[in-house]
Order: sequence, then C-alpha cells, then structure tokens
Amino acid sequence: MVELRIDNRVIEAFEGETVLRAALRNGIEIPHFCYHPCLSIAGNCRICLVQVNSRPKLAPSCNLPATPGMEINTQCEPVRLARHAALQFLTLNHPVDCGICDKAGECQLQNYQVKYGDEPFGIDPKNHKPKFYNLSDRILLDNERCILCGRCVRFTREVSGSFGLGIVERGRRSRVERLNSEVFDDPYSDNIIHLCPVGALLSRDFLYKSRVWFLEPIRSVCPGCSRCCSVNVWKRAKHWQFRSLDEEKNRMIFRITPFDNPDINGPWICNKGFDLHKIQTSKPRALTPLIKEEAASIEDAIRETVRLISHARKPAILLSSYASNEELAACKIALDGKFDIYTRQDFQAGSGETLEDDILIKYDKNPNTAGALALFEPRKWNPLVGHDTVIVWGDGVDFSTLGTSAIIHLTNFENHGEKKADIIIPISTFLERKGSFTNFEGKTNHFEKVFDKPADVIHAADFFERL
Ligand code: SF4
Ligand code: SF4
Ligand code: FES
Repeated sequence: MVELRIDNRVIEAFEGETVLRAALRNGIEIPHFCYHPCLSIAGNCRICLVQVNSRPKLAPSCNLPATPGMEINTQCEPVRLARHAALQFLTLNHPVDCGICDKAGECQLQNYQVKYGDEPFGIDPKNHKPKFYNLSDRILLDNERCILCGRCVRFTREVSGSFGLGIVERGRRSRVERLNSEVFDDPYSDNIIHLCPVGALLSRDFLYKSRVWFLEPIRSVCPGCSRCCSVNVWKRAKHWQFRSLDEEKNRMIFRITPFDNPDINGPWICNKGFDLHKIQTSKPRALTPLIKEEAASIEDAIRETVRLISHARKPAILLSSYASNEELAACKIALDGKFDIYTRQDFQAGSGETLEDDILIKYDKNPNTAGALALFEPRKWNPLVGHDTVIVWGDGVDFSTLGTSAIIHLTNFENHGEKKADIIIPISTFLERKGSFTNFEGKTNHFEKVFDKPADVIHAADFFERL
C-alpha cells in the first residue's frame, strides 16, 4: 500500500492506483466526467484537476498515480478556479435544457455546476449541433448536450466490442456519431444512456415518462438468462403515489437500470435486461383462478386441486426454471416422494436474440435452472409413464404433449393454447415477492418485492404449503 495525504487526511492507496480512485474509495469527492472505473482513462474533461505537493501546475487526478508521501490539495484556490474554468468551458455551449431533460436530477453537470460552478455567465451565441439525432431505435442523441467525455465511445470499444460510435470532426464541430453503418446495433447499447454523465443519450422508452425524483429503485434480478444480472427496477416512490392522478402509474415500471454487482454482472446489463418491464407486460396476466374454464375463488381452486391430487394414481409435476429457490424448496417439502418430479426450461431464445457471448449473455434463457438442479435430479418429461394428473408450473409447456392427464397450471399469464388446463392457479411474478435465483456459476442473487400481488393471485410457495 502507498500512504499519501489528501486535504491533510492520510489515506492508503493500492500500488498503481490513481489519486482519483484512491480518493473516491476513501470517501473524498473529486469531481469527474470522463473517468469511469470500468473504462480506460481519457483525461479530457479536466474537471478533476488537483494540486500536487504545492506545485503551481495542477494535474488531472484521474491520470495521476498515487506515490508515497504525496500531498494532494483538492480545495485550494487554484483548484477552485480551475473547476470554474472547466465548468465554464463545458456550459458555454450547453443548452439550458434542464427543465425538459430526462437526466435532470441525476446529471453530473447540473450537480457540479451547483456545487463547484460560478454565477451564470456569458451571453455568447449558442453553438448548434444535431439535436435528437437517431442513434438507434432505442436511443436518441442530443449532441448539443454532449460534453464529449468519450465514455460512450470507449464503452463500445472496450466493453461491448461493437465499435459502433466515434467522435467525428474537430473543434466546435466535434460530435458523437454512429460509425461505419446506418445502424447502431449493439446488444449492450442502453448502458451508454446511464454511462453518459449528462442528458445527451436518451432512452426512447423512458423519454419524458417521469422526472427521476418521483421514482425509487428497488433491487431485483433480471430473469432473461442464467447470468441473473442485478438490476434496479424503478417505480413511483411511495410518497408520490398518493398524489398520482393515474392509479395505474403506481403499478408501473418506469425503467430498468443496472445494479453494480461485481460478483455477477459488474456495472452492465444487456438490452434484454433493460426491456425487462416490457417482457413482463407483453402477455395478458392471469388474474382469476379457473376451474374447467369457469372463474372461481382461489380457495375453491386449491380445494379442487387437493381433491384431484388425492384421487390421482400417478401424479407428476413439471417444475419451472423461473421459480425462485425458496419456492422450489417449498415444492420439494410438499411433493417429494409423492409426485414424479420433472425438471425443464420454461423459455428458449426468441428469434433474433443473441444466444450467447463472452460478455454476459448466456444460452440458457431461464434464471434458475441451476437452482432447480441443485434440489432435484435432472429428469426429462416422459409421456409414456402414464401420469393421470400433472401440475404444470410456469410457461412453455405444450399441453397436447400431456395426453389425457388432468392438468393443474400454475401460471403468471393467460393460456391461449388449444388445450385448456382443468384448473388454472394464477401465481405471483418474481416482481411480487422476495426471493433468490442461482445463476449458471452457482452464485445466488436476491431480489426484493417491487409490487404487491393482485388479490386472487397466490404465491407458489403458499400454494405448495396448502397441498
Ligand atoms: S454522449 Fe454522453 S457519454 Fe457520449 S461523449 Fe457525449 S457526454 Fe460523453
Ligand atoms: S445477460 Fe442475461 S441476466 Fe443479464 S441482463 Fe441480459 S438477459 Fe438479463
Ligand atoms: S475525470 Fe479526469 S480529466 Fe476527466
């Protein structure tokens, strides 16, 4: 370790660590735009300048290795003036869009201007650049708001590998653009929206949907593949729900952002993860228990299930690889030894979906195959065994392959297939309960409850306890 002083406080830095990294790790704030811990150092924004050993020439702390005995000053007058100058340079041509910008409330430029900036200055004519340029069908780029930090460009080169973006032209005409092709087709593209320190990169999906201070993040897990990336699900904050004119918006996911989890996904997720809310609402939700296609109460549906099972000669259950570890454990306690238990995967890759890559995306498009296999022997469905009653848990089962068996379906979504289940039990989604999935590497990732479950919907674990 290396010992140095920052603002008269002794701190320890790792060998080779920069002053900025060491400062941030020790809770000392040094403003920065172009620096990001998971990207290479660009050193182009100059907001992170600090004074070293009382020398008159300031140095960029993001590119300054910590050395023993170093004395860093982040508060002296020359640093204060340099920050003002850097902010003045950046804001000179920056539009005053805060009132309509989606980034307002979490914009680094806005925050630093309030904290380190000077009084408003300058009435120079604005430097116009392409506004709301179509970067892709997912992202809009406002080049007037861009501060040319280069984070988005470095992301496509160093993380996603698409090399889809570049900074073109020089001087006041410099701007971010797509490179090489007409499309910016990168399965990780939405990460740049959150990587951008200002509101230059805008999600078309979230555009003008809500001010960010009306929302709160809830920690969850993306069930899109067996990586089980950590995400934040953004819903309307509790104290704003009372003022909502539109009740529906209190049960709405406004956006998904990555939750930095170094063990599983780091600070990134793929675009499927960003679309999690759309996937969850893409099919009509099962909200009413049904017995022989007639609406019933959840109590009657469970009673009828118990009756069917008690008369069954050879009952079976097809497990769900979307079920949480806790639900699978409840199923094991209730049914082990009494049912033939079959493992399976609910979902396969959709058309055009990336099957697998070296970054995050995995071939298995289910979150908890590993959790199911940790509790149950792998066993494939065999129609020849002659089961007379089958509990189908989750999606993706073609009922016509189940022969004449009585079917009890535990599901999140309405089933529009030809053959109907005898009993339909609507169960809660992973957004309506706490739990955990085990990813392909055997790492457990926990998710919190985002919304309450609807009234006639039951948690699968409670259902198994009632059998
Ligand atoms: S668009 Fe955003 S991330 Fe990209 S260079 Fe401009 S300010 Fe930086
Ligand atoms: S890599 Fe898999 S788990 Fe991660 S965000 Fe994409 S689909 Fe979800
Ligand atoms: S953060 Fe150091 S120059 Fe940009």
